[in-house]
Amino acid sequence: MRVVLLGPPGSGKGTVAEKIKELYGLVHISTGDLFRNCIRQNTPIGQEAKVFIDRGDLVPDELTVRMLAERLDNDDCADGFLLDGFPRTLDQADALEALMNKSGFSLDVALNVSVPDRMIMERLSGRRVCPECGATYNIYSQPSLEPGICDVCQSELTQRPDDKDATIRHRLDTYAVRTAPLLDYYEQQGILRSIDNSGDLAATFAQLKEVLPQ
Ligand code: AP5
Repeated sequence: MRVVLLGPPGSGKGTVAEKIKELYGLVHISTGDLFRNCIRQNTPIGQEAKVFIDRGDLVPDELTVRMLAERLDNDDCADGFLLDGFPRTLDQADALEALMNKSGFSLDVALNVSVPDRMIMERLSGRRVCPECGATYNIYSQPSLEPGICDVCQSELTQRPDDKDATIRHRLDTYAVRTAPLLDYYEQQGILRSIDNSGDLAATFAQLKEVLPQ
């Protein structure tokens, strides 16, 4: 199965992706995580991307598509994948379609994770992440067992630099202008599905079986 996850910053794409990975055994590829790894390792891609990410802007399409194409070339993507945070522009969607055509595949589902804007500020300002293993928590809704410490690897949890209020607002504006048009794009292809993540996670996860092929 080949799935792309859409939705505004903080709608819960990463959280839903972890569940889909568990249920369907798909390889989870988050372009945000790929960029953050490059930044941690101080690679040339990381150095270039950091400037955009810290401002809450999108990284240029050319760099993003190149990085993603390299990742999709790996053997673990041959039988399917789950893209989280890609595509984010119409040009990226066209580039993905071209890559898929080249390999003779097509997307099965574009899954939109929807949450009202008013909930997003609280979810993102309360988010804490483990810089070592990538586990995600929320001080309001999904706290770690010991405050500030990762349950999985016991590292100290941190706040993402782009989770500051002003940057979150800018990311939401960017989403509305550059990414929301993808909903129509995939609707026209007949593969858009939506789940509502405004309730608790059990209610969100229950919707997955209705919208993803069995
Ligand atoms: P990326 O890392 O993809 O960030 P994002 O899209 O802004 O999404 P987030 O990771 O912030 O949120 P999410 O939707 O995954 O929510 P989460 O599950 O964590 O990208 C970062 C940056 O990289 C971009 O701004 C851009 O600069 C660059 N970039 C990445 N891809 C790019 C691309 N394709 N092109 C160009 N640039 C690109 O949930 C949020 C919080 O809510 C968590 O604390 C979670 O625990 C909590 N939560 C989730 N669901 C619930 C629930 N039901 N109830 C209560 N709490 C919940």
